[in-house]
Amino acid sequence: QELQLSLEQIEKGGYEHFMLKEIHEQPKAIIDTYRGRMLPDEGIIRMAGVDNNMERFLNADRIIIVACGTSWHAGLVGEYLLEDMTRIPVEVEYASEFRYRNPIITPKDVVIAISQSGETADTLAAIKLAKSKGAFVFGVCNVVGSSIARETHAGAYTHAGPEIGVASTKAFTTQITILSLISLKLAKAKGTLSNSAFHMYLQKMQLIPEKVQKLLEIDEKVKEIASIYKDAKNCLYLGRGFNFPVALEGALKLKEISYIHAEGYPAAEMKHGPIALIDENMPIFVIATNKGHYEKVVSNIQEIKSRAGKIIAVVTEGDVTVKEIADHVIEIPDTEEALTPLLTTIPFQLLSYHIAVMLDKNVDQPRNLAKSVTVE
Ligand code: G6P
Repeated sequence: QELQLSLEQIEKGGYEHFMLKEIHEQPKAIIDTYRGRMLPDEGIIRMAGVDNNMERFLNADRIIIVACGTSWHAGLVGEYLLEDMTRIPVEVEYASEFRYRNPIITPKDVVIAISQSGETADTLAAIKLAKSKGAFVFGVCNVVGSSIARETHAGAYTHAGPEIGVASTKAFTTQITILSLISLKLAKAKGTLSNSAFHMYLQKMQLIPEKVQKLLEIDEKVKEIASIYKDAKNCLYLGRGFNFPVALEGALKLKEISYIHAEGYPAAEMKHGPIALIDENMPIFVIATNKGHYEKVVSNIQEIKSRAGKIIAVVTEGDVTVKEIADHVIEIPDTEEALTPLLTTIPFQLLSYHIAVMLDKNVDQPRNLAKSVTVE
């Protein structure tokens, strides 16, 4: 019998969907993003777009990050990274709001625009506005030669390779990789991070791809969790600190492809509203990594438990406390807290993927959504 493969099947490289392929490409995509830039042995990070504009960055009054969708979530992680490491004030804005709210922008501002496609109309308009006010605009794009890549003064490509699935996966983790590199690089130049901490981060960053690879092996476990909660009508995602944006992104992934209503929240805000929704029918995904306000998140988990909510916790390998309380735990390998978003996000991507497949939804092209939104 003749073996016939369609072009699409070949492009999917043996995976059933582009999204799954792209989830699995992340170890390589992250390496491709830092390759040639991060040189742990020499103890340097080389990024032409930053190096050539170092004065603009170091003299910036503040950094404003503009983006939409998943890229905006990466921007939020960027805010936590940049402020923590460089002590430069950072604001993160939805490009669609920024462009129309008559924002204060000065030539001492640095704007970082993040966009996978490099074509998002609102982000492009925000860039043009920032430029007209004299700000220096730096792009973080995936698509080479895209409109945003061309419109910005300088930038850094994510080098994630083509992302076909509408729900963004490898673009997100590679955007976070770039933002980590920029933060580390600026922190080193400013002296806000000690030399030893800088070197330690470089070493830890280099280990991330193999940790992501290891995490991808938990697929069966995630599938099992997906089969238990696939019929939920509402889900809550909670995280704190660096993992608050991951909670938002986890909820977005579920909404986008499985059409289940989900909300991401900073864990401590639960008591100001979402707690009213908790009952035995509510699955709650909580990120409780060991260094990230762990005790406080544990007490949030206890509050959920006492209201009979179902707890699916993402914890650090070797965790004992949460394991005893949660209905399910997913373990991630240990790393520095600032780098955990690169790991904690993986199980949520897989979970949304499996739920969407089980519900027989169109994973790669969900209804009403587009890969690149070129209209406002
Ligand atoms: C669309 C896509 C999202 C993406 C957002 C921003 O909504 O479906 O996956 O995060 O646009 O796109 P960008 O290309 O600017 O990152």
